[in-house]
Amino acid sequence: MNLLIMGKPGAGKGTLASIMQDNYHITHISTGNIFREEIAKQSPLGIAVESFITKGELVPDELTNNIVKSVLTQGHFPNGFMLDGYPRTKDQAIALDRILTELNMPLNFVVDIEVDDEVLLKRITGRRVCSGCNTIYHISLHPSIKQDVCDVCGGILIQREDDKEESVRKRIQIYNQKTEPLLDYYRQKNLIVTLDGRFKREDVFEFVETKLGITHGNH
Ligand code: AP5
Ligand code: MG
Repeated sequence: MNLLIMGKPGAGKGTLASIMQDNYHITHISTGNIFREEIAKQSPLGIAVESFITKGELVPDELTNNIVKSVLTQGHFPNGFMLDGYPRTKDQAIALDRILTELNMPLNFVVDIEVDDEVLLKRITGRRVCSGCNTIYHISLHPSIKQDVCDVCGGILIQREDDKEESVRKRIQIYNQKTEPLLDYYRQKNLIVTLDGRFKREDVFEFVETKLGITHGNH
């Protein structure tokens, strides 16, 4: 099962992908996570992308396409993959089509998570992320058991650099301009399935089983 997960900043793409990876063993590939890991290491790639990300702007297409191409080419996906946060522009969508055709890995669905704008800001400003394993929390909606400590690995929880209000507004504006039009592109290919962004954990299982037709979960 090869999927794209789309939705505005804070829609719940990472949260959904993590539940699906744990329960259905589909590999989660997040370009945002890849970039943040490189920034943390201060690798040449990390240094090159850092200022775009902090300001809430998109990393240039060519750089992003090359990374996704190398991850998809070198990776092994026994149960398929979920691309979270890619593609975000028409150029990226065309590049992805080319890569997937070359690798003979067609897309099965594009999951579009729908959330009202007023919910997004609250979610993002309260989000905390594990600096060790990327597990996502929220100070009130999904808190860790011990404050600022990851339930999964004991790592320290941090706030993302681009989660300041000014960057968040920029990210939402860019999504509306550049990424939302891609939904039409995938609608024409008949790939879109929508998920209500207010989902609870058990709604995810129901969604995966009835809408995506996957029945081999271990929840
Ligand atoms: P990226 O990391 O992809 O960020 P994003 O798209 O802005 O999305 P977020 O990660 O903020 O939100 P999410 O939908 O994953 O929500 P989450 O599950 O965390 O990209 C970051 C940056 O990298 C970009 O701005 C750009 O600079 C660069 N970049 C990345 N990809 C690129 C590309 N392809 N091209 C160019 N540049 C690229 O949830 C949010 C919060 O809500 C959490 O606290 C969570 O606990 C809570 N929550 C989630 N779901 C629910 C729910 N159902 N109920 C209650 N609370 C919930
Ligand atoms: Mg995310």
